[in-house]
Amino acid sequence: MDKSLVKKVSENFAQNFSGEPVLIYSPGRINIIGEHTDYNAGFVFPAAIDKGIVAAIQKVDAQKGSPKDRSTATAIDMDETIYFDTNNLNTENLSSWHAYVIGVVAETQKLGKEVGNFNIVFGGNIPDGAGMSSSAALENSVVFGINELFELGLTKYEMILISQAAEHNYVGVKCGIMDQYASMFGIENSALLLDCRTAKAEPFAIDFGDYQLLLFNTNVKHKLSDSAYNDRRAVCEKTAELLGIEALRDATEEDLEKVKDQLSEEDFQKVVYVVQENNRAQAAAVAMKEGNLEELGKLIYGSHNGLQNQYKVSCDELDFLVDLAKETPEVLGARMMGGGFGGCTINLIKKTAVADFKEKAVAAYTEKFGHACSPYEVALSDGTHKI
Ligand code: GLA
Repeated sequence: MDKSLVKKVSENFAQNFSGEPVLIYSPGRINIIGEHTDYNAGFVFPAAIDKGIVAAIQKVDAQKGSPKDRSTATAIDMDETIYFDTNNLNTENLSSWHAYVIGVVAETQKLGKEVGNFNIVFGGNIPDGAGMSSSAALENSVVFGINELFELGLTKYEMILISQAAEHNYVGVKCGIMDQYASMFGIENSALLLDCRTAKAEPFAIDFGDYQLLLFNTNVKHKLSDSAYNDRRAVCEKTAELLGIEALRDATEEDLEKVKDQLSEEDFQKVVYVVQENNRAQAAAVAMKEGNLEELGKLIYGSHNGLQNQYKVSCDELDFLVDLAKETPEVLGARMMGGGFGGCTINLIKKTAVADFKEKAVAAYTEKFGHACSPYEVALSDGTHKI
């Protein structure tokens, strides 16, 4: 966690309000493998990171003289404050980050919980659109904060379901549970092999010896990513229905053959990808237990290949960085990470090659696309917590 970010948020709060707020850190996430498998009740392999949201939150009752029927939310990075009354919440036409904050309050109220008015100030250091789940980090910080302030008695699991529902109902992305889970339940220096059906996770201590993870942000986020996401989810659900199963997690490639003629070739390839990716995520866990990094790397490349050619959620910028990794023997595996259409690649790379590869990738990428990509090394962190 970035101490200067905590300072920035605390100072901004103190300039506008009196008293001691509750301070919360809520991290973003990476994902080693298992992409677009979460909403198919399958396996994912995420980890919370040392980049995230810091929020300062306090009940309005604590402020002498301030209106009791008004909440405020301030996004320091946007230099923007919104006002609302939790007793009379307006959820129409919410845009950008407003939907995350108001959506979480609205979903909490749907459970019959009483949410009083509050002031929240937040700031973050997750690059926007990087596919490191700044939205889940924000949602979790809000739900965690109001749970503390108003003693709502929500479990962490209930909180992530609220965060996810906010995304579904107020942002309009029918996301799975991976991002919110990883952000809330992350464990320092560990990745979580999460079974999205049971919501049970097995922590893996991450120490790749001479190797490490390295991210490159393409610094692009192409339009249509939200609608393309929902479209793919719909194809998966339709296919599960055709097969008479609850989710594609329950299907084998042979099963898919039975409904092949009821799907377009494109959609067939998409559901084949999901079944294969779910197998890859589980195979990655075995490879990691055996310390077989070569095999892990192959699975990571296989994941990208599927995301690019079968699931079709990659883009030129991501493919370019993965192709560059393939030409570099010290990189064992690379792939796009997250929903797709931009954001980051994740690379498994030899530590001694990191500096050279960063330089090479930034130079080649800048030449090709006319703007730079940004390398990131991240540490794996604990999930959402009070500071
Ligand atoms: C986004 C969603 C997640 C997950 C990934 C793809 O990050 O929020 O639920 O589906 O895309 O794996």
